Amino acid sequence: MNDMNHDSYVTPDGRTIGPVMMEVQNITLRFGGVVAIKDISFDIREGEIRAIIGPNGAGKSSMLNVINGFYHPQEGGIYFRGEKRGPMKPYQIAQQGIARTFQNIALFKGMSTLDNIMTGRFTHMKAPVWKQALWHGEAEREEIENREVVEKIIDFLEIQAIRKTPVGRLPYGLQKRVELGRALAAEPKLLLLDEPMAGMNVEEKEDMSRFILDVNDEFGTTIALIEHDMGVVMDISDRVVVLDYGRKIGDGTPAEVIANPEVIDAYLGVSHD
Ligand SMILES: Nc1ncnc2c1ncn2[C@@H]1O[C@H](COP(=O)(O)OP(=O)(O)OP(=O)(O)O)[C@@H](O)[C@H]1O
Ligand SMILES: [Mg+2]
Repeated sequence: MNDMNHDSYVTPDGRTIGPVMMEVQNITLRFGGVVAIKDISFDIREGEIRAIIGPNGAGKSSMLNVINGFYHPQEGGIYFRGEKRGPMKPYQIAQQGIARTFQNIALFKGMSTLDNIMTGRFTHMKAPVWKQALWHGEAEREEIENREVVEKIIDFLEIQAIRKTPVGRLPYGLQKRVELGRALAAEPKLLLLDEPMAGMNVEEKEDMSRFILDVNDEFGTTIALIEHDMGVVMDISDRVVVLDYGRKIGDGTPAEVIANPEVIDAYLGVSHD
């Protein structure tokens, strides 16, 4: 790593971006004969909002699945805060402070908003079951602390009115918000969002954009998000990495990537739903 990686800088918008938090180095991921990711490197800096864009099938979700330990790449390495990561299971990565949401909502549909968000606290539940049985004090303290964090998130996301509603009954936009709440319950340092605004109308997208910016601003959470809506990407991200057929074809500020002819060809010329 050179010095630039350790330094902070201030963006033209006046945002302070910290040193490199995560370094993705020469990752190649294959599924049988399919090369989903081919020799991709990029970094994510502390405090930034980093977008990952590209056409369908470009390898964006696969990349998030590599970052959160769900897929194990055949080649390359991941450095988190300077340390090379071994093959880790998703729960171990959660313990490192990385949380995510999914392209297809993954909530417990029959459970309430409150209970779904509560499941996001699992990495913070320290008292093992036998201890909970023997020593109520610790488990009780933990329960109270978990509830406080969850209540704060419910306030923050303005979802008090639906706290008891089974999430399966909520409109899609609100389900996406609850899923964000569950990821936030882990109090992540790095939050990975796979198409947090897919299928939303303009108003819902505006709300979600605001929540993402507020999470970044108020909690200092670093965010990496996949998004197809270029307007949203331009509005909220500090830097953008562009994938196409498993390769990286662009990396830079939003202004830089939209001026990149290869990006225009591969991505901006095609329409997405
Ligand atoms: N578990 C898997 N098994 C086999 N192939 C996979 C698997 N996951 C992804 N792929 C393949 O890897 C490639 C990249 O898929 P990926 O889902 O990462 O793309 P994406 O950029 O997220 O696309 P989209 O915009 O449609 O969500 C595709 O060719 C896909 O079919
Ligand atoms: Mg995807």
